[in-house]
Amino acid sequence: MTYGVILDVDTGIDDAMAIMFAVRHPEIDVRAITCVTGNVGLKQVLANTLSILDVADAPQIPVAAGAQRPLVAAARDASWVHGKDGLGGIGLPASARELSPLHAVELMHRELLAADEPLTIVALAPLTNVALLLRMYPDAAQRIARIVFMGGSASVGNATAVAEFNIWHDPEAAAIVIDSGIPLTMYGLDVFNRVAAEADTIARLADATAPVARTLGGLLGFELTDPGDGTVFTHPLIGDAGAVCALVAPELFTFESRPVQVELAPGFSRGQTMVDRRAYGGEDLVHEPGWTPWPLADVALDVDVPGTLELFFGTLVDTAGAAAS
Ligand code: RIB
Ligand code: CA
Repeated sequence: MTYGVILDVDTGIDDAMAIMFAVRHPEIDVRAITCVTGNVGLKQVLANTLSILDVADAPQIPVAAGAQRPLVAAARDASWVHGKDGLGGIGLPASARELSPLHAVELMHRELLAADEPLTIVALAPLTNVALLLRMYPDAAQRIARIVFMGGSASVGNATAVAEFNIWHDPEAAAIVIDSGIPLTMYGLDVFNRVAAEADTIARLADATAPVARTLGGLLGFELTDPGDGTVFTHPLIGDAGAVCALVAPELFTFESRPVQVELAPGFSRGQTMVDRRAYGGEDLVHEPGWTPWPLADVALDVDVPGTLELFFGTLVDTAGAAAS
């Protein structure tokens, strides 16, 4: 099976790994990459995206600039997690690739209309571009097979105690997408936080000469400094790349179809994804007459970590010759 895919990214250490995985995986046909402000500002996201396509020796794939800020309220970036340049300071050369002259929304729309079959949108960033697409071209929804989004959590948050960064950054956009009626896969922190590379793998990658392997080593080895207490630590997650793994190898994950909503009210819980995990629903009607059921998403709640790492590294590096080839 081949998946026709549009990637929406805020590149980002783990978006970079996701892009390399997607363009190298034999069952994924990346039709376009659209960029949005998120982990870092849009200009840097664009530069990073083009450079990482060079590292992966990817064919020409149209890359377009999208939203420079969230729909309603401005939000801060996540450069403390990804480094000022968004790629952990690994110093990739600037790319000679050219950007599409189209806005991200127009590029998505063009590719959706041009495709023989509905496409999958894999959204690894705040959902601003996807929400704008659904508002500007509501009919485009029929051309979308599924939206797989990295975002949210059925447990802890990261941007706040309860909100994951992508949803927290643009909660209104996330609400538009979740309410769209399009089949949804939510790849949230419940699984995102679990798929981490081993230290010896990262060390071997960092010593490699092959560009993809060496770049992976640099990205996974990035040291973060906690903005609270100044602690320095590594957090070697494959992150967004796991959401792409979930598209091509859903058997590595446990999904549950669950009602999901986004908290939009100001306050501590703004941007939280509320995932209804009750054994039975319906009681809300007793307490709130007129209550309407929440939209459903296939929520990833468990993951085969070794299997996912094998898929990821097996696609990107020569594991037999170790990453040092
Ligand atoms: O919440 C984790 C953040 O880092 C998100 O932006 C995710 O997409 C990753 O890039
Ligand atoms: Ca991202």
